[in-house]
Amino acid sequence: MQTRKLATLQVAPIGMGTWKTFDVRSEREITVRKEIIEACLSEGVAFLDSSPMYGESESVIGGTTEGRREHFQLATKVWCQGLSQGKAEIARSFERFRTDYIDVFQVHNLLDWKTHLLTLEKLKAEGRIGLIGITHYLTESYPEMIQIMKSGRISTIQIPYNVLERTCEREILPLADELEIGVIVMQPLDVGRLVIGLRRKPDLAPLQAHGIETWAQALLAWILADTRVSVAIPATTKPERIRENAAVGALPTLPEELRTYIESEVERCF
Ligand SMILES: NC(=O)c1ccc[n+]([C@@H]2O[C@H](COP(=O)([O-])OP(=O)(O)OC[C@H]3O[C@@H](n4cnc5c(N)ncnc54)[C@H](OP(=O)(O)O)[C@@H]3O)[C@@H](O)[C@H]2O)c1
Repeated sequence: MQTRKLATLQVAPIGMGTWKTFDVRSEREITVRKEIIEACLSEGVAFLDSSPMYGESESVIGGTTEGRREHFQLATKVWCQGLSQGKAEIARSFERFRTDYIDVFQVHNLLDWKTHLLTLEKLKAEGRIGLIGITHYLTESYPEMIQIMKSGRISTIQIPYNVLERTCEREILPLADELEIGVIVMQPLDVGRLVIGLRRKPDLAPLQAHGIETWAQALLAWILADTRVSVAIPATTKPERIRENAAVGALPTLPEELRTYIESEVERCF
């Protein structure tokens, strides 16, 4: 896989999200997550995103990456109100991940961000975390996100970006580019809707010469064609999809005409 800059961190452009998909407890389900992590390891999917909001996700990542920590870049979030609650939750993330260093620590959905940034800044100064970031899944939060981006206190943002959700193109992405803030793309497949919600089968023929073999790959390549994006983090419950998704990170940047073609296929098929 190629690499891109996420602020000062070098990252493979296809990572993995874990909302819902890693909130598992049974032995059978954990075995599948082990296979997913093995696939990540062999395919170079290093950036794993979690949150205390995702139930067992941090613990499952901690258990399945143990002993191979150096091959992964771990991102998580603080998702609560209050200074002491935040500190306790952050401490639990280190325990659950079974690590003493977390690469990217984000404030989930901007929840009590003023309080949590103080804690995260202290941890960064102590060398316990790499980058500080903010996330939000609602575009209505962009004005507030912009204000925080301009404050110089954060290095990454996590926002939704896909063929159907392009609001970030207006202000967020140009500002991130100007300020060299890393961009993590959540919901790259629109929470799966862009693959399961189709009325017609997309025609992949014009994309095949570019190395695109599946519709999910087309959608991910569409995102990475925007070079302001650092990493997209599709989530999956299926180990074989790690290979499929990761392959996009090795493709050359999609030319503008193929990007437009994918948009027209979404319009025709969705
Ligand atoms: N506020 C926040 O901070 C926030 C909000 C939302 C999301 N996020 C982060 O962003 C991550 C990604 O977003 P998301 O999980 O909501 O949605 P997503 O990645 O857009 O979509 C996930 C869905 O896509 C399917 N999928 C993945 N690869 C596929 C492929 N190659 N072919 C067909 N289907 C495929 C998965 O189904 P299968 O399991 O069947 O593969 C899953 O149902 C989250 O997991 C989370 O880490 C953060």
